[in-house]
Amino acid sequence: MIIGVPKEIKNNENRVALTPSGVKELKRHGHQVFVQKTAGEGSGFADEEYTSVGAELLPTIEDVYGKAEMIIKVKEPIEAEYQLIKEDQLVFTYFHFASHEPLTKAMIDSKAVCLAYETVEKADRSLPLLVPMSEVAGRMSIQQGAKYLEKPLKGRGILLGGVPGVRPAKVMILGGGIVGTEAAKMAAGMGADVTILDLSLPRLRYLDDVMPANVKTLMSSEYNIREMIKDHDLIIGAVLIPGAKAPKLITRDMLKDMRPGTVLVDVAVDQGGCFETTKPTTHQDPTYIIDDVVHYSVANMPGAVPYTSTLALTNATLPFAIQLANKGWEKACKENNELKLGLNVIKGDVVYKGVSEAFDLPYTPLDKYI
Ligand SMILES: NC(=O)c1ccc[n+]([C@@H]2O[C@H](COP(=O)([O-])OP(=O)(O)OC[C@H]3O[C@@H](n4cnc5c(N)ncnc54)[C@H](O)[C@@H]3O)[C@@H](O)[C@H]2O)c1
Repeated sequence: MIIGVPKEIKNNENRVALTPSGVKELKRHGHQVFVQKTAGEGSGFADEEYTSVGAELLPTIEDVYGKAEMIIKVKEPIEAEYQLIKEDQLVFTYFHFASHEPLTKAMIDSKAVCLAYETVEKADRSLPLLVPMSEVAGRMSIQQGAKYLEKPLKGRGILLGGVPGVRPAKVMILGGGIVGTEAAKMAAGMGADVTILDLSLPRLRYLDDVMPANVKTLMSSEYNIREMIKDHDLIIGAVLIPGAKAPKLITRDMLKDMRPGTVLVDVAVDQGGCFETTKPTTHQDPTYIIDDVVHYSVANMPGAVPYTSTLALTNATLPFAIQLANKGWEKACKENNELKLGLNVIKGDVVYKGVSEAFDLPYTPLDKYI
């Protein structure tokens, strides 16, 4: 198959969909890979690294879309890319259709086959192509939180791990899923006093079993949250209710019960945030202060560490990309239900229920194609 890797053109997006190592794998399977010049630069991969494993470089994004049977990228296509996508072309990337009507309509009009990373789903309902970014954001939340606890950055001036003779910082993590677990591991490793709150008792049991002694678990309730916020230095928002907005677990009135310089990191900002005072911020201007409480709520946290994020993402996407390239999307999706659930739009038909419902568009069952 002819595979194309365009350079990401969305603002501040430095990731790339294939590493040189990924290209090598696809070449080993007999495929032709076109990579746009400097596509890997933002993630630290030079053009020569791609050519050395057999990729062919193309100067423009138009060339890449023009030649490829399968486009593999990272972010959803932006407006400038809409008209580049061709009929029958397979596009494998994050789409997040349900939150973007113009993109959905453009992809329907393109008659391309759109396979979305975010809806590839395993039998246990986990989302293998979202997990790597949650892992990055979870770990990063503690790195950022520790930084903003420093006094010059308006934090409480407390070192996360303390020192001998001085108590460590107290970290409270709302939600013990992927983000919360990775955050807890980082905070615990730095020596902080950590508590994870979740609504799921089985999850709390599991975390209690596997976490080190400086991580405690607590049932999530308004009462417990109100008690905890009074003396916690760093609070991480990591809850998710699939398909819904995040619940507001920390309300505006609670800020006055926190100590000045407390840091709130709302990783769930992309689902509306789980703190009432959350508003999305960017890496250029990541924080703001309300009632002496520092808020960090960057909607695209992994974007700040493109090297790690690119490798983490491609570790997860490559096995699927190889199946698609080897078999073509129809056979690959027929044989792999996880991939099949990634199909959102096929040749003008919306085949994913959530997307058709979001915009009241006709739904076509997948049986028409598979
Ligand atoms: N900002 C970013 O850059 C970024 C990056 C990756 C993920 N995220 C977001 O982080 C959030 C968490 O993702 P995840 O992969 O960890 O999800 P997950 O499904 O693995 O975990 C969510 C956890 O929240 C728990 N939960 C639900 N309601 C709760 C409540 N009221 N109190 C306490 N816990 C509750 C669930 O039981 C679950 O364990 C999502 O909104 C995701 O989109 C943001």
